[in-house]
Amino acid sequence: MEKYPGKKNIAVFISGRGSNLKSLIKYSNKRKSLIKIVLVISNNPEAHGLKYAKKSKIKSFGIKFKSKLYFENQSLKLLKKYDVNILCLAGFMKILSGNFIKKFSNPILNIHPSLLPKYKGLNTHERAIKNKDKFSGASIHKVTQKLDSGKIILQKKIKILKNDNLITLKKKVLKIEHEIYPKAIEKFLTNL
Ligand code: GRF
Repeated sequence: MEKYPGKKNIAVFISGRGSNLKSLIKYSNKRKSLIKIVLVISNNPEAHGLKYAKKSKIKSFGIKFKSKLYFENQSLKLLKKYDVNILCLAGFMKILSGNFIKKFSNPILNIHPSLLPKYKGLNTHERAIKNKDKFSGASIHKVTQKLDSGKIILQKKIKILKNDNLITLKKKVLKIEHEIYPKAIEKFLTNL
């Protein structure tokens, strides 16, 4: 029997550039992908990433972050309307409330630019360089009420070389982010 019947409806939350959204759109357009992106929401109506959604004719909304409650209530209505099964945070720079996580009730995934549990929160690359770490990487994890602490679904490691700096490290990690987010979604869905 097919373990995974039909495609899951995915929503992606972004805040800016949207390169991870772009990689998820590319994956979703593959015939064998397990997902269909039905909704993109940005807390910043000017986010560059919204252009990728428009180009691919995906419903997209810029919802001003007048307050967390306002943003979350508007988003919850849309998540319901578009029958979203999984919410993927991709460069979404706001912290969702426990109330939102409870109310949505379906899985929420996030991509984080470090080898969690190392460097939760912001400025991960700065901290890795400052500490002279030998490795960095990216993690996809489930979102829970505790910041960057939910179950890790997939991680990939890269070496930090002696001549790496903030710019080169960011670039290297971003490259693997684009690679592992689609893979993590596949892994998550086939292990449901
Ligand atoms: C990524 O590095 C993501 O991990 C971090 O913010 C960056 C967003 O990039 N949280 P983009 O908007 O997906 O291009």
